[in-house]
Amino acid sequence: MARLTVNGRGVEVDVDPSTPLIYVLRNDLALNGPKLGCGRAQCGACTVHLDGQAIRSCQLPLGEAEGRQVTTLEGLGTPERPHPLQEAFLAEQAAQCGYCTNGMIMQGAALIQDQPGITEAEVLEGMRGNLCRCGTQPRVVRAVMSAARKGA
Ligand code: FES
Ligand code: FES
Repeated sequence: MARLTVNGRGVEVDVDPSTPLIYVLRNDLALNGPKLGCGRAQCGACTVHLDGQAIRSCQLPLGEAEGRQVTTLEGLGTPERPHPLQEAFLAEQAAQCGYCTNGMIMQGAALIQDQPGITEAEVLEGMRGNLCRCGTQPRVVRAVMSAARKGA
């Protein structure tokens, strides 16, 4: 039995501790924000926060998340009180198919935390590991910069 905190709630799951976290989030906890893309730490679609840091949940064994704080897209904001970056994604219409969007938002939110003065070059560098096959990168960068300026 593994115990962890997900989106502020203590949960227990009876899953092999070597199971990648993304399977536990999606299959056992019905949190479908994180997407399984490459499964090899190369696309960023599965990004979640672990103790406030952006990590690839396809590569983190469940056992390493025990006793730690996991935040998924569902815990970043609520429909009533979205995170500023979630609002900026809507304002900029920064999604097409949406498959990469979870990772873009989770990576971007960790990147701009307490960094209102972040530059576009720093955003580009910080987001370079998040791939989008639809070509939304310019809109994603605009959304991240906009949210950063608002002090996200
Ligand atoms: S699914 Fe995890 S990085 Fe691609
Ligand atoms: S919006 Fe389709 S992969 Fe990015």
